[in-house]
Amino acid sequence: MADNPGISFERISHPSPTDADSRAQALTNPGFGTLFSDHMVSIDWDEAHGWHNATLGPRVPLTLDPACAVLHYAQEIFEGLKAYKQEDGGIALFRPEANAARFNSSARRLAMPELPEDVFVESVRQLVNIDREWIPLVEGGSLYLRPFMFASEAFLGVRPAKKYKYLVIASPAGNYFKSGAPAVSIWVSRDYTRAARGGTGAAKCGGNYAASLVPQAEAIQRGHDQAVFLDGAENKWIEELGGMNLFFVFDDGRMVTPPLTGTILPGITRDSLITLAREEGLDVHEERYSLEQWRDDAGSGKLVETFACGTAAVVTPVGKVAGHDGEFVIGSGGPGQLTQKLRQKLVGIQRGTVEDRHGWVTKLR
Ligand code: PLP
Ligand code: COI
Repeated sequence: MADNPGISFERISHPSPTDADSRAQALTNPGFGTLFSDHMVSIDWDEAHGWHNATLGPRVPLTLDPACAVLHYAQEIFEGLKAYKQEDGGIALFRPEANAARFNSSARRLAMPELPEDVFVESVRQLVNIDREWIPLVEGGSLYLRPFMFASEAFLGVRPAKKYKYLVIASPAGNYFKSGAPAVSIWVSRDYTRAARGGTGAAKCGGNYAASLVPQAEAIQRGHDQAVFLDGAENKWIEELGGMNLFFVFDDGRMVTPPLTGTILPGITRDSLITLAREEGLDVHEERYSLEQWRDDAGSGKLVETFACGTAAVVTPVGKVAGHDGEFVIGSGGPGQLTQKLRQKLVGIQRGTVEDRHGWVTKLR
């Protein structure tokens, strides 16, 4: 990664940044996604200039033409990563280059221009650097970073837009799940799927999340925390949750996670945990696993743990699974041993208390 990427950010000073007392007050209980830092990054793209007009300035509302293409055809992609305060007081990002690569893979699927990976990483660094006081120091706290890009051309024809905006905003975050329960309960969506072969399931585009809202609301309405999606072809194979990948742990040291066949998001947490689990001596397989088998294995005790993982949710144990034809409990219904061990290892690397043997951590200069 170049230290001095070929784009420089114009700094626009903030006329009235949040005062330290109000910020400290806001950071005592950040929750997820409701609180935002003072600044944002913005870069424009058009056919004539490529990426240009890079700024780091105050976080302000956008003015959009009512014909702005994203408002009509949803040509939008995003990423999610976190900045962590480390034990030694420094600040670190976890695998930002992996987010940059996935951003470009999403861009290709949505017919959008790619952003050079070093510009993506630099944009995130710049924002974290200026808003470093917004990292909450509460247990599990971090600064959640949301880089995103949308079609900004005013045009109603259905074709890739000729103008785009890339922005990065930052949101102080605590726990993703409000309940603070030891394990989450998930609802098997029968009437809705998240992705189909040839669709956009492997891209991180806003439309995927819009499609997940009704099944997710159904899960909540039935008293569960999250919906789990099955494959779109056979309605049989477990895919993922609306914003998290899944792992299954067996009593014989095997661990299974659904394969990346194009319909699920290739999670960076997923990839990291595969590596960490193999280091722990687990026999990890990326292979299909059916709902039926899940129920049988949970019943026989062969399946001992299930957990969900992602940047926002970190590693979250799944305690109960419910569907139209009944429910089943996994293990004791609480967090399993391996789930906790992997979580501690991952969080330790992110926080600088466990050795980073894979070069995953980028410290801020
Ligand atoms: N699956 C979906 C649909 C997601 O939105 C996310 C979150 O980004 C994940 C999985 C986990 O990905 P990651 O670990 O890169 O955050
Ligand atoms: C993330 O973990 O970064 C996600 O994107 C999940 C959700 C907040 C969309």
